[in-house]
Amino acid sequence: MNSQIYIFDTTLRDGEQSPGCSMNFDEKIRMARQLERLHVDVIEAGFPIASEGDFESVKEVAKQIRNCTIAGLSRATKGDIDRAWEALKFAAKPRIHTFIATSDIHLKHKLRKSREQVFDDAISAVRHAKSLCNDVEFSCEDASRSDIEYLCKILEAVIAEGATVVNIPDTVGYAVPDEYGTIIRTIVERVPNISKAIVSVHCHNDLGLAVANSLAGVYSGARQIECTVNGIGERAGNASLEEIAMAIRTRQEKLGVNTAINTEEIYRSSRLLSTLTGMHVQRNKAIVGENAFAHEAGIHQDGVLKNTLTYEIMTPQSVGIKHSTLVLGKHSGRHALKQRYEELGYALSGEELDRAYRIFTKIADEKKQVFDDDLIAILQDEVSIGESAYVLENLQVTSGLNVVPTATVSLKRSGEVLQDSATGDGPVDAAYRAIERITGISGQLLDYSIKSVSWGHDAIGEVFVKIAIDGYVFNGRSASTDVITGSVKAYLNAINHAVGARHRKEQKQTELQKESAAV
Ligand code: KIV
Ligand code: ZN
Repeated sequence: MNSQIYIFDTTLRDGEQSPGCSMNFDEKIRMARQLERLHVDVIEAGFPIASEGDFESVKEVAKQIRNCTIAGLSRATKGDIDRAWEALKFAAKPRIHTFIATSDIHLKHKLRKSREQVFDDAISAVRHAKSLCNDVEFSCEDASRSDIEYLCKILEAVIAEGATVVNIPDTVGYAVPDEYGTIIRTIVERVPNISKAIVSVHCHNDLGLAVANSLAGVYSGARQIECTVNGIGERAGNASLEEIAMAIRTRQEKLGVNTAINTEEIYRSSRLLSTLTGMHVQRNKAIVGENAFAHEAGIHQDGVLKNTLTYEIMTPQSVGIKHSTLVLGKHSGRHALKQRYEELGYALSGEELDRAYRIFTKIADEKKQVFDDDLIAILQDEVSIGESAYVLENLQVTSGLNVVPTATVSLKRSGEVLQDSATGDGPVDAAYRAIERITGISGQLLDYSIKSVSWGHDAIGEVFVKIAIDGYVFNGRSASTDVITGSVKAYLNAINHAVGARHRKEQKQTELQKESAAV
């Protein structure tokens, strides 16, 4: 049997749809580019019928990413499939992913359909998808709680219609490895035309078994694994990509399979996702947690110093963790910065470098030692400064014991300086209120977090905020040695995203008006 395991990444679909993990258009494109660098085989870019935003981002990912297959999700209906294809048709390698639930629980309580109706819907969906796109994946939602005879019958029928991949989700994370492996083995043995399709596993982590179940599926003949970076996803998440990729690499002799994943891009992918979503990984998370390669106990440290084989089953370098080293200081030039970013794997455009250098010189002035992690944080601090963006010019705050926290904020927009003051529950709240008065945009703060990215009392703090404006959620982030300034910049970053989204919407409406006037 083929030993190649295809990695189907669903960070931008199953991951992004879970609470706290939403990304805007630009963030999804950035993540997709990183997934391409990670060498995933398939990127599930979204669920095009779900919203206009999802549609647009799937379309853009399809246009920009040329080295991965791009999949879009659809329910088993013509409308969903047509919409998915509208977005996917720009891809070099498009795949329509259509699904319907097959367990009696879902049929009775959710779909209110008979097994025969669902069978017919599945066939019609795959037939229609196949008329548009050669690569069609079919998923039986809640497969692990479905009747196995019925499952095999449906799979045989959809493969006969041309499904190229059949996916067997453990939708509610209920299965245990032996049981899930048996389901996959039964499908491989009983479905007569199974060799015409790739069998795929898609496991949720409700019992903490998503990776174990996925590997049990591989033992039984599955050749595609669906997973997400940092294991984000519905409820307790999906199987974690980094754990799967490193298990397969580290235990190659046992598992006898391999993936195309460039494991040295794992850490960067994990960091980028945390920065974009504000969803940090737990310290002791396997592979990408802060403690994953830290040896604290004396006996362990002694062993590792004598020979790393004693306690280290894989190296931090193999997942792209470079020990944070002192790299640059305030005398370092633009060229040195460019070179260091290149060593870290970031090829910056002239404009990006200019911006990074501007932030770098400020930070190097404030703190003597600038570490790799600081440099990465600087990059994540990027704001697409368009014409309409607000830029922080000045900030003055008063706060302390027995004083009313007050902030005066000056913003610059299109050359004009705007200033206002406000009081609040604390200095950050006061500054946010002042920004609200200046911009006229009132946002509801949904999430706020600060994380230090390197060492020392002058470490850079990465601030992340999530705000709701006009019913939409916008993320904002900033990196600064001063947490109040960082908090204000992060808030402004989210406001600028909202302004950008309004601007794009207005542009689209104008285009549509022009088009309909021309007709
Ligand atoms: O968990 C699940 O069943 C899914 C399907 C839509 C593939 O995400
Ligand atoms: Zn899922």
